[in-house]
This record gives sequence, C-alpha cells and structure tokens, in this order.
Amino acid sequence: MNNAILQKLNADHKNIAKVMYCLRAQIKGFEDPDIEPAIAQIMDILDYISTVPERWHHPVEDIVFKKLLEKSPPHPEQIKAVLREHEDLERLTMELKNAFERVAMDIAVPVAHLYRTATIYLSRQMLHLDAEESVLFPMAEEYLEDSDWTDIEEAAQNIIGAMEDTSRLEYDHLLDSIINFEAG
Ligand SMILES: [Fe+2]
Ligand SMILES: [Fe+2]
Repeated sequence: MNNAILQKLNADHKNIAKVMYCLRAQIKGFEDPDIEPAIAQIMDILDYISTVPERWHHPVEDIVFKKLLEKSPPHPEQIKAVLREHEDLERLTMELKNAFERVAMDIAVPVAHLYRTATIYLSRQMLHLDAEESVLFPMAEEYLEDSDWTDIEEAAQNIIGAMEDTSRLEYDHLLDSIINFEAG
C-alpha cells in the first residue's frame, strides 16, 4: 500500500484488532462464574473504540469510500454496506457501553445476553476490518487517482485537525494500557 491515507487506515486497523483481541479475552471470562469480569478494562476498551475508530477512523474511511463510489467500481453494494456498517457498529458500541455501565453500577444485567451481544459485536468488528482490508482498500488503490487522493486529503483535514495532540496522546496511552493489561 503506497498511499499515505491507506497506510494510516491500515495502521489503525492493526490497533483496532489488538483492542478487539483484548475484548475477546475479557469476554471469555464470562463463561466461567469464578472469574470476575474486569469491567474497568472493558470500559477502557469501549472508550477507545468509541473515540479512535469512531470519531477519527470511520469518518476518513467514509470520505475514501464515497469517493470510490463516484468511480462506478464493481460491487457498489458491498461498499454501501460497509458504510452503513459504520453506523451499526457505532450503535452497538453505545449499547454495549450502556450495558457494561449498568454492570459497573451493580445493576442486574442478564449475563448470557450480554455475552451473546459482545460476541456478535466482536465478530462484526473483525469481519468489517477484513472486508476493508481485503476488498475495499485494494479497490480504492486501483480506482482512485492522485487527484482523488488530493481531494480526499483536503476533505480529511478537518477530521485529522480535530484530533488534538493532547487527546491523541491520551488515546495512545490508553491503547498501551489496554494492550498491556493483565488480568489479576
Ligand atoms: Fe470501517
Ligand atoms: Fe476501517
């Protein structure tokens, strides 16, 4: 991948995937009644996802994929589905966040239901990354020209500019702490 924007999106995916593996490790504990779920770690993970991918990564992808749609590529339905999925995933993150907040406040939450929702969420996130990496990014590389990328970079400036250095650093630290977390 020679394109700087695609390289950045690909680097984001690597971090998102790492965070998802951490979430998977936490969810596994749900099956064992002797393991206390690490709610603070799960909340950190959901906080990360609702900020880095959802506020900074999806909006840039939206610009790339909408530009790609203008080029009449093959399988436009798949591109549209990925775009719609950003909204679905964002809604699911919010639902999970609410559910885990209730757990954190000791409000009874049906664990089996939560486990199922979290498992579906994980697989949808991973399939989403996979569709982008294996189909959409290569298609963007093939169909978009230099002038398109210049337009995309210009349009993405607002989003990139909105990531202030302080919050970016804060979320880099959060990522480190999520990845380095070890269940007591
Ligand atoms: Fe995406
Ligand atoms: Fe993505």
